[in-house]
Amino acid sequence: MKILAIETSCDETAFALVEAGGGLISPKFKIIENVVSSQISIHRPWGGVVPNLAKREHQKNLPIIFKKLLDKIEPSSIGILAVTVGPGLEPALWTGVEFAKEIHKKYFPKAKLIGANHLEGHLYSFLLSQSKTTHYSLPTTNLFPAIALVVSGGHTILLRMDSLTKWKKLGETRDDAVGEAFDKAAKMLELPYPGGPEIQKLAEDGNPNAIPFPRPMMHTKDYNFSFSGLKTSVLYYLRDLQTTHYSLQTKADVAASFQKAAIDVLTHKTSRAAQEYRAKSIFLSGGVAANSALRESLKTLSSKLKTNFFVPPITFNTDNAVMIAVAGYMSYLRKKNKRITAQANLSL
Ligand code: KG4
Ligand code: ZN
Repeated sequence: MKILAIETSCDETAFALVEAGGGLISPKFKIIENVVSSQISIHRPWGGVVPNLAKREHQKNLPIIFKKLLDKIEPSSIGILAVTVGPGLEPALWTGVEFAKEIHKKYFPKAKLIGANHLEGHLYSFLLSQSKTTHYSLPTTNLFPAIALVVSGGHTILLRMDSLTKWKKLGETRDDAVGEAFDKAAKMLELPYPGGPEIQKLAEDGNPNAIPFPRPMMHTKDYNFSFSGLKTSVLYYLRDLQTTHYSLQTKADVAASFQKAAIDVLTHKTSRAAQEYRAKSIFLSGGVAANSALRESLKTLSSKLKTNFFVPPITFNTDNAVMIAVAGYMSYLRKKNKRITAQANLSL
């Protein structure tokens, strides 16, 4: 079954054409087209994503990218048209949803129009972590129970997955998402948006043990997170230096120490959940999962706990439409279609 997917929840206009098969027993995906048009350079001067600018860019880019894709698509071959309906920035989501409705009517009236949950896209992206020849597939026997950590610019969620269709949220952030904390700490260090990759780069030259930043909620009994205090500690640390001209070494040490503190909390809570629920696998996904130190930390944890560890390639961690095609396929199989309307606060 061929799936055309659209993602516009934040600052990437993305399309994907994916062939899916295997059902709930052994879902597999062949990626035919994967286009991500990033708006980073548009938002960078503002230090973050400006919703109305994102909307304007999506409106401009959607027809251009679609037109190029249309030359390569046989419209009658599309079985599912999947579009992100939430969560995300309302005006940005709205452009994708309206565009999907329009092309559905005009080009793919026989296809099923599926509203996909962006977070399910991240969650299910572990299905893209292994590729055999041209297909991405995972043997789904012996994977569950699993602990899934979804870390992005808007969310930090820990889940227990009992199967491909059944999961329970164990905890989430009470304030800032971890990606948001990376972005804000980066801003304090005068690094451009998005800050996550910049902090990672700078941290490579720093000492992760230079500054004892706090590990908020690391030892609480629940599975919730809090990153706002860590962010504020960076602010106070820099303020107390009583200069606005930080040396490169100071910046690198702050970046490395901040990154280590955030990763310690994420790893510690994932570890406790994996042990409590005797997890057979650990899944890591979302934009922050592109962070190599976090990937390494959870990989080391999983070898210590003797669990499987699955994390998709970096291109499928940050926002893309391939994961929306996967979420669309899973929704179709689970018969759990979402309303085709922008739902900014949709949850998992
Ligand atoms: O999943 P995503 O692309 O968009 C949302 O759904 O939010 O995640 C974007 C977030 C941003 O906060 C960005 O700074 C962060 O992921 N990020 C990273 C890295 N690459 C992206 N954070 C830390 N290290 C990275 N290498
Ligand atoms: Zn995302």
